[in-house]
Amino acid sequence: MTLPISSSVVNHSVDRATFEDLYAGPAPWDIDKPQGTFVAMIADRVTGPVLDAGCGTGEHALFFAARGLRVTGIDFVEEALRRARAKAAGRGLAVEFLVKDATALGDWGERFASAIDCGLFHCFSDDDRRRYVRGLARVVAPGGRLFLMCFSDEEPGAEGPRRVSRQELYDAFADGWEVESVQPARFEVNPEFTEVTFSEGGPKAWFAVVRRNG
Ligand SMILES: C[S@@+](CC[C@H](N)C(=O)[O-])C[C@H]1O[C@@H](n2cnc3c(N)ncnc32)[C@H](O)[C@@H]1O
Repeated sequence: MTLPISSSVVNHSVDRATFEDLYAGPAPWDIDKPQGTFVAMIADRVTGPVLDAGCGTGEHALFFAARGLRVTGIDFVEEALRRARAKAAGRGLAVEFLVKDATALGDWGERFASAIDCGLFHCFSDDDRRRYVRGLARVVAPGGRLFLMCFSDEEPGAEGPRRVSRQELYDAFADGWEVESVQPARFEVNPEFTEVTFSEGGPKAWFAVVRRNG
């Protein structure tokens, strides 16, 4: 399975069928633990209730649930959620995992104090970014925070996820949000995934903390 060729040039969202194919093999992001950046940088800053948008097989949702927070994970791939629910049952953790399109959150009646996005934002076209951010603005409570990690434009090459610039993050959250910080970070990648070679030390990423105004 070839990862979609990305980039600033190809402005489209990665569709559900592509993710279903990726989950049939060693999904590159699926490392059976939360990304170290989330653990190191924000473990103590995340308050509940928590939304994990594009939760995949649930490691970030489960990490925060294990810290005693109420967590809801959403994803549009059933198989990912099936695995997430199995992990939750195996670890004795209660997390709500829901099939939901993250670009259509606007009419969802839920409110969250924190939202996590690990590897979702960089899946979207420009239009879907706008839909996603508009929906998030409805479900993240005023004063709540989004913690977001995405591929950086400093990662060389064009294979893999779409690269995102620091400025694009500021632009995406210009209305109704305050970007509190954007720091360089690295993604950890599933060692079984060998189809694409990223930077030594892991693909370069941005880690952003964004506060919902209000
Ligand atoms: C790069 S993976 C990251 C998964 C997980 N956050 C992690 O860190 O392991 C992106 C996830 O977003 C999901 N996704 C992509 N577009 C989506 C959408 N429009 N709505 C809901 N989930 C989506 C994919 O199915 C996939 O599980």
